[in-house]
Amino acid sequence: MKLDPKSIIQGVATAVSPLYDDLLAKDTRTVHPALLARGSFAFEGDAIPRSRYFSAEFAKLERDHVWKKTWQFAAREEEIPEVGDRIEYAVAGMSFMIVHAAPGTFKAFWNSCLHRGRKLCENWSTGDQIKCPFHGWTWNIDGTMSKQPGDWDFPQAQKEHLDLPEVPCDTWCGNIFINPDTGAGPLSAALGVLTEHFADYEFDKRWTAIHVRKKVRSNWKVAMEAFLEGWHLSETHPQAQSFNGDSNTLYDIWEDEHAQISRSITPSAVPSPELGEAADTRAAVIEMCKAVTPPGIDMPDFAQIETLDRAFAAEYRRGVTTAMTGRDFSATSDAEMLDAVQYYMFPNWFPWWGEGAPLFYQYMPLGENPDECIMDIRFLLPMPANGERPPAAQRIDLDFDDSYQANNVGFGLFDEVFDQDMGNVPGVQQGAREGKQDQPLYFGRYQECRLRALHARIDRLCAV
Ligand code: FES
Ligand SMILES: [Fe+2]
Repeated sequence: MKLDPKSIIQGVATAVSPLYDDLLAKDTRTVHPALLARGSFAFEGDAIPRSRYFSAEFAKLERDHVWKKTWQFAAREEEIPEVGDRIEYAVAGMSFMIVHAAPGTFKAFWNSCLHRGRKLCENWSTGDQIKCPFHGWTWNIDGTMSKQPGDWDFPQAQKEHLDLPEVPCDTWCGNIFINPDTGAGPLSAALGVLTEHFADYEFDKRWTAIHVRKKVRSNWKVAMEAFLEGWHLSETHPQAQSFNGDSNTLYDIWEDEHAQISRSITPSAVPSPELGEAADTRAAVIEMCKAVTPPGIDMPDFAQIETLDRAFAAEYRRGVTTAMTGRDFSATSDAEMLDAVQYYMFPNWFPWWGEGAPLFYQYMPLGENPDECIMDIRFLLPMPANGERPPAAQRIDLDFDDSYQANNVGFGLFDEVFDQDMGNVPGVQQGAREGKQDQPLYFGRYQECRLRALHARIDRLCAV
């Protein structure tokens, strides 16, 4: 069924939790143009088959038409800061090695020796030569072969034909992307509106303060979809209901032949419209302030403050963030200080925007198993006032059953939030697989418009 975009109700509004445009109209600072940009909702699809999440056949289609054919976020430049550093990017049963090949130049190669196929980079390595540990065939960091032990025995495989197979690799603002398709178009086309919206965001001046990679027992889409809508907040994260507008989240999608970018903006320092009569604006501001105050910073006596509104909350957050970073946020809008502005670039990357929640997600199918994936989360903080880049945090690896909270990974309140999300995700996968198979699954028109758009694009690419 073709949806009429005009027929879609765009969120729930109440007097204390208005729609996002009404909140923006009351901002005490100039609102960034990115927050005023609006996408479209013209897409198709009302119900999807459950097999999208577990069919090995469909996973193969995705591997061939999505993962082998699209630009995808693979790593941050700060993870391989020196020439000669390299890092593995593994996705959907394929492995690539990204190499810092010359100052500011990054290259990506299939991560496999041309002799008998051994992996050349396991996780991370460095050095001015790439030497296979099995029999010692060796490459320069630009991928040209430098040494072929036993070359007399390989008349069929001669050194001049043994450069490492390269795949397109490009960077944008400190982020490295690859595309396994050697005929790929430019990265800039796949970035779509991101280049405009993040033009002055100084992504390259941010650093990874926390980095956690977790194995998840679900299809990559199930894990990702848990983060593509804010509507589950009231049921799944009830502790955040008093100070986050979930069902008044603003959703936008920008899509063309080369790119699908979508965005959700969940306002903070307003109560959830789902609270109905119990919604309380003062409580929303107080809870938000408590949530963002790190240990060691004194909180005011809120009972003595007459007006507690979003403007107060934003000013409070400016103070806390300046105390933490030494940077000046006096001109930054209330919206940027408070709200959860989450962008998504098809197929696997979520760069968040603003100071409200400086998160950064990446998802990958784990091997070729449609029932498993990787969720990778970072905190990407602005550089300290002295301008010196701290080293990127060491990655913490969590296994399938490891919890964020029990491992105290350091995302603060988000540790609990991620555990709550992971409490649903494997159950969604199991239920999709084990439920009545001819019963389709439904997405909401507005709250789940980004999920619809994701599936519609995958279906188009896979031609199903
Ligand atoms: S497999 Fe790499 S040198 Fe033999
Ligand atoms: Fe969640």
